[in-house]
Amino acid sequence: MDKAGDINDPAPPSPPSSSLPSHHEPLEAPYPPGSLDGATASVDYTALEERYPLYAKFGQELGDTPLIELPGPDGGAAVLAKCEWENPAGSIKDRVAYALLGSALQQHGDRPLDELRVLEYSGGNLANALSQLCAELGVRSRFVLSSASPRSLLDTLAARGARVDLVDKERGFLDVVREALRIAADEPEWTLLYQHRNPANALLQERTTGAELAAQLGGRVPDAWVASIGTGGTLVGVLRALRARFPAVRAVGVTPAELPYGSEQPPNGQRKYAGSGGMGHGIRQPFVTLHDAEVEHRTVSYPRAFAAMGEFHDLTGLRIGSSAAANWLAAKETAAALPPSATVVTVLPDAGTPEEWEQLGR
Ligand SMILES: Cc1ncc(COP(=O)(O)O)c(C=O)c1O
Repeated sequence: MDKAGDINDPAPPSPPSSSLPSHHEPLEAPYPPGSLDGATASVDYTALEERYPLYAKFGQELGDTPLIELPGPDGGAAVLAKCEWENPAGSIKDRVAYALLGSALQQHGDRPLDELRVLEYSGGNLANALSQLCAELGVRSRFVLSSASPRSLLDTLAARGARVDLVDKERGFLDVVREALRIAADEPEWTLLYQHRNPANALLQERTTGAELAAQLGGRVPDAWVASIGTGGTLVGVLRALRARFPAVRAVGVTPAELPYGSEQPPNGQRKYAGSGGMGHGIRQPFVTLHDAEVEHRTVSYPRAFAAMGEFHDLTGLRIGSSAAANWLAAKETAAALPPSATVVTVLPDAGTPEEWEQLGR
């Protein structure tokens, strides 16, 4: 595996300047690429669960999500997927919320929980999960989000007492990340969880989602693993778990057609499928850079993903979100080039927002 550096350096990432460059200016990556392994990666979840019963309860409800067969291409490989809306707060990011908060709790040590203030940026699902977990534990939470975030999410966060900072959607997701970095540098009382660099993210995906999937496959050998990239924690974590059992499995990353993986274009305000990692300015997600030589890439536009939500619902009666729909489309394309004896595995990260289902008229 290619290890380009060390993202576990305990020193915080280089502090961003408090005046953000305009979004037309080229940017330095807000995080260097590097390794996932290291001392800061190990969170003692057992000790944390013994200490905080409500954290333990969330942990017990997490994971063991069903693996189902999806409608696939005629004459192509079978397509299987894990249903991540079955997690306690409704998405795959519940696993990441548990992992990231675990790393912050461990760092916080013996001090009272009401002295811990966690800060994170989010496309929506992580803020939803973390705000629930933090409210249950009595930890203060603050989220940087795009101004395009759905009303239902903002209402939920307000009801849980979470603080929210909105960044103009025209500035793209990169500036959402940068705004969180700016707050963390200017207001050090807030602990940034930093999902793109916190190794607990990909490690928990490896040990839970990936391990579950490998076991659920029974005797089946997966030929390809397909996952949309936000941080890349899902893609890379699960890939590592699968590779340990099935060394030949291919990896396919999915990013928005509006701003593909590693695009040199500046960030844009165009709508993209949920949780998608379009960064711009050539920035590549650090977890994915660890496997750059091995990952194939596909893109899906928001209009295609949105239409596929409706199509999937018509075919199966199930509600999937737009990143799940993007994964389904990319998995079907991958499966179409493989024989019927082959297996493509993917993940359905969430069930979509009430706003999207209303727009779809269902
Ligand atoms: C709906 C949805 N799909 C996919 C992803 C991507 O997950 P990851 O950050 O593991 O790449 C996210 C992350 O926020 C998400 O919310």
